Amino acid sequence: MQINQNFDNIAQSYLFSTVAKKQREFQAAHPEADVIKLSIGDVTRPLVPAVIDALHAAVEDQARQETFHGYGDEQGYSFLHEALAGYYRTHGVSLDTDEIFISDGAKSDLGNILDLFSADNTVLVPDPVYPVYVDTNVMAGRKVIFADANAGNGFLPLPDAGTACDIIYICSPNNPTGAAYDRAGLQAWVEYANAQHAVILYDAAYECFIEDTGLPRSIYEIEGAKTCAVEFCSFSKMAGFTGTRCGWTIVPKALADGKLNKMWLRRQTTKFNGVPYIVQKGAAACFTEAGMQQIRETLGYYKQNAKVLSETLDSLGIWYTGGKNSPYLWLKCPNSMDSWTFFDYLLEHAHVVGTPGAGFGKNGDGFFRLTAFGDQQRTVEAAERLKKLLG
Ligand code: MLT
Repeated sequence: MQINQNFDNIAQSYLFSTVAKKQREFQAAHPEADVIKLSIGDVTRPLVPAVIDALHAAVEDQARQETFHGYGDEQGYSFLHEALAGYYRTHGVSLDTDEIFISDGAKSDLGNILDLFSADNTVLVPDPVYPVYVDTNVMAGRKVIFADANAGNGFLPLPDAGTACDIIYICSPNNPTGAAYDRAGLQAWVEYANAQHAVILYDAAYECFIEDTGLPRSIYEIEGAKTCAVEFCSFSKMAGFTGTRCGWTIVPKALADGKLNKMWLRRQTTKFNGVPYIVQKGAAACFTEAGMQQIRETLGYYKQNAKVLSETLDSLGIWYTGGKNSPYLWLKCPNSMDSWTFFDYLLEHAHVVGTPGAGFGKNGDGFFRLTAFGDQQRTVEAAERLKKLLG
């Protein structure tokens, strides 16, 4: 046996595991400390009633001979494809149902999609970036190059026509920076990708936080995107499915003359047995009138947290991106501290855990990410502690 030596080229532990370990160690050393976690972007509100009702009804379906479901199609049930196609139509995007593939979440598919591309491809990712994009490619031995995201470009780099690449990752609204591309920015990336015959892997997991009507919610709102982009999205942040698991991937038939759509179907039918019927029924309930209304209320709860944190940073005079159109706030560490020093400082003196920007890439050092997915009272308490410590 020969092991995959590429694993030697990634950090030993995944960023969020390292952060959780540090929190556990601190808590063990200080059992009396009331630690508030604003680190991993995990939701805290329960699933909405419309989803719960649909899940219960689907459980009952599985109890009866005449409504029982065994294996479903690997790419998902048509009731969910149709609900999603309807959701995209509300953004002015028209999709065929066989361009929509149901998955157990965006993270898995962002890694799995790489089965379709040669190991020789060069991958362009913004720095800082959600670590999954880099780590999955390094594991496969692909060459990764970076587009500098920094305070100067508002953490929204634009393509450089002189840089050649094959695979491009874009996440908007962005994880970790919370910055979101406008139409002109995404148009520039689409034109660049089409000119290079490159593919954009577009992570839209946070589109449900977009409030500004001028900002695109799907890359397919941009002309030319169907010939260059695969889009990944998820019910995790939209509807609290982090522990329930459901997402979707769009592989347009206009991409590579339909080849990638066929290959993805082949890949999924070979390596995946589909998302449980019960979960897909719960996911479809998100798109009912009641479901959408209830989801909007939950998103409003998190947006209120984002507002509390934004106002706190404003009052402290701390520079940040995000907090609007995004559940993340990406702030400049006070007093020129590096990210991990600020992480320790905040944990030790305010008992608040965030995510060090350095964990997202070299340009992330000196920055820090807070999430608005926490409990509302605890977020207000964390904001008070930040004011006391940094004011
Ligand atoms: C994060 O904190 O960045 C998210 O939880 C990542 C994810 O959704 O996997």
